[in-house]
Amino acid sequence: MKKNKVRSEIVCRCNNVNRETIEKAIRDGCDTMNKIFDATTAGVGPCGGSCRRKLQPMLEHYLATGTFPEKLVADNTGKAPPPKKSPDETE
Ligand code: FES
Repeated sequence: MKKNKVRSEIVCRCNNVNRETIEKAIRDGCDTMNKIFDATTAGVGPCGGSCRRKLQPMLEHYLATGTFPEKLVADNTGKAPPPKKSPDETE
């Protein structure tokens, strides 16, 4: 249960891309930031890419160890928009 929560954690709030999507893209061969941007749309949102601070360590950790880090770098830039509301909370 907890593991699923971690996997569904939103990494890119601009484009609503979760951790599971990023990890799958990396496992499927995205070995550069540009490839992750193209495959997932994470990192190319209107905030200018504040989530790249999370993406880069994920990618580097995977390329070095074949696994993903337990925790992501916190986004303290204040640039990313607040998390999107669930469909139940929208109009
Ligand atoms: S949070 Fe990913 S581009 Fe803005």
